[in-house]
Amino acid sequence: FIGTKAAIEALYGRNRLYPARDAEANKGNYGHALIAAGTWRMNGAGLLTAAACLRMGAGLTTWAMPDALLPIAAGKQPELMYAPLADNGTGDWTSITADDVISQAEGKAVLAIGPGLGRWDGDTAWLEQIWKETDCPLVVDADALNMLAEGSGEQFPKRNRPVILTPHPGEMARLTGQSIKSVQADRVEAAKRLARDRHATIVLKGAATVTATPDGTAVINTTGNPGMATGGTGDVLAGMTASLVAQGYEPEAAAVCAVWLHGEAGDRAAYAHSHPRSLTAGDIIQAL
Ligand code: APR
Ligand code: MG
Repeated sequence: FIGTKAAIEALYGRNRLYPARDAEANKGNYGHALIAAGTWRMNGAGLLTAAACLRMGAGLTTWAMPDALLPIAAGKQPELMYAPLADNGTGDWTSITADDVISQAEGKAVLAIGPGLGRWDGDTAWLEQIWKETDCPLVVDADALNMLAEGSGEQFPKRNRPVILTPHPGEMARLTGQSIKSVQADRVEAAKRLARDRHATIVLKGAATVTATPDGTAVINTTGNPGMATGGTGDVLAGMTASLVAQGYEPEAAAVCAVWLHGEAGDRAAYAHSHPRSLTAGDIIQAL
């Protein structure tokens, strides 16, 4: 499928793309999302993910972070809730246990994990435990994808809750063991194959983002512009996708709708700034 607005509406229905809120709604109807993201050096990655999740309509959004970040994060986005996790004063995730994350994820509608996490020894086992022991859908992005790439199929088996992976071509190359060039030579095939192998919805980002599902469907997106090739835009997409999952969208619909709206908002923001080069990731959130 080519992901024009008409095709998305045909696939998932107009109400999926533009969901009306029930007049009697309360925040409990729209899910509580947990965002595990950000370090001292890249705290903005966490903020962008969490802020995008809020703006996309999740009922509640909690940002789990190394607790040294709290003083700089607090107040930047007052609608967020925070789960500061004991980090030994490092400002990073190295001493935060998988159990810390798993207990925060309890009762949440989705866990988005990865933007600005950083890398450390033993991180594959850390993600493996989260993968196996959390009971909610997962959106896995950025550094968490690199952990996943190093793990075996046994470490990351088919979950009984949905998984959405959102690699850019470099992350995709690590996940598949291909070169970036061969990923880009047949993006649809690469995404479909990984979807089957990892039992997950795959969002292969970049111009003409491909969303592929294990059953062999692929949707090619038509929105977006090269102004979006700037740090943080991927974090925004991860937060938007998690938000739609929290609101009850099936993983494929969440991914396709988030990708389309992310590009559309990016196009509007580029117009608003007169030139795509002036687009920043935060502008996409504003344009939503
Ligand atoms: N046309 C349309 N959309 C584009 C284009 C383009 N030419 N270029 C980028 N985009 C979109 C992608 O589809 C994706 O949604 O912008 C987003 C970029 O996401 P990422 O590549 O994940 O970028 P981001 O994470 O924000 O920043 C770079 O990637 O390699 C890691 O560690 C690195 O943290 C850094 C990060
Ligand atoms: Mg990224």
